[in-house]
Amino acid sequence: RAEVVINDSSSPAVVDRSNESIKHNIKPASSKWSHNQTLSLKIRKQILKFLDAEKDISVLKGTLKPGDVIHYVFDRDSTMNVSQNLYELLPRTSPLKGKQFPTCAIVGNSGVLLHSSCGPEIDAHSFVIRCNLAPVQEYSQDVGMKTDLVTMNPSVIQRAFEDLVNETWREKLLQRLHSLNGSILWIPAFMAKGGKERVEWVNELILKHHINVRTAYPSLRLLHAVRGYWLTNKVHIKRPTTGLLMYTLATRFCNRIYLYGFWPFPLDQNQNPVKYHYYDSLKYGYTSQASPHTMPLEFKALKTLHQQGALKLTVGECD
Ligand code: CTP
Repeated sequence: RAEVVINDSSSPAVVDRSNESIKHNIKPASSKWSHNQTLSLKIRKQILKFLDAEKDISVLKGTLKPGDVIHYVFDRDSTMNVSQNLYELLPRTSPLKGKQFPTCAIVGNSGVLLHSSCGPEIDAHSFVIRCNLAPVQEYSQDVGMKTDLVTMNPSVIQRAFEDLVNETWREKLLQRLHSLNGSILWIPAFMAKGGKERVEWVNELILKHHINVRTAYPSLRLLHAVRGYWLTNKVHIKRPTTGLLMYTLATRFCNRIYLYGFWPFPLDQNQNPVKYHYYDSLKYGYTSQASPHTMPLEFKALKTLHQQGALKLTVGECD
């Protein structure tokens, strides 16, 4: 019994509200898990046949110029023109050029992180990836603070910053951007036409306030390439979530990958309620006809990889 839940105005997610969490019993963080280096390298090699994270993580300045026309990935009939601001913020070289990290944390946004005390463990990783500008300061004990890359779907500006309707919300966003302090801000600007203005607002703020972030705008082929990889491996996702995209990219530059905050179920393993997001009141209850995400299916695939030692999923308390 699957239910469709809108977790983002442009991207609803399918969330299974049956007792799915029971089926996904994952041992506590302290139980034995060992890394399977051979499998990790094999997966990296296979993914490289579909995409190269070093390149696909961002379009580079050399490949576009102001005024160029781009067709949106999901709205092929709609186009945008590369603005002067966007052009200025395109990186000259890949922000991940030549990078290799011993360990990476990918932090999803599930409420399963609350009361996990995972903050210190997350912050101890060499590279920490977060999703959708999720707040950290007030939750640092559970989610940590270190941020090397954070994603920002344009819809976040609507969802978490009230479309910057007044000075208060602009200030809130500015503060969040300032706090990024040199990390990579990854903005899927070319996916859906609905994000156009929001991307422009953010670009303008970054330039006007000299915000210290390294902007990156994923390539036009990334989403289809990621989907292609997973489909080939019989994971029938409709549209990969940000979390799955980050895992797929991370296989290229992370030797060991640790996932936190991935739990698309309303009950935890002990049947206690779990918030959809650790930081807001978004519910599992919205409905929609469109359902591009298939989170429980993704979770199942990630769980298998956990069991095989290719990644480590933590869905309970940290030690
Ligand atoms: N996630 C999860 N369980 C939840 C919420 C989130 O596993 N209850 C994971 C998903 O992989 C998700 C990521 O954490 O992509 C970040 O969460 P969120 O900001 O909610 O991402 P989405 O809204 O799904 O963003 P997108 O639509 O771009 O995927």
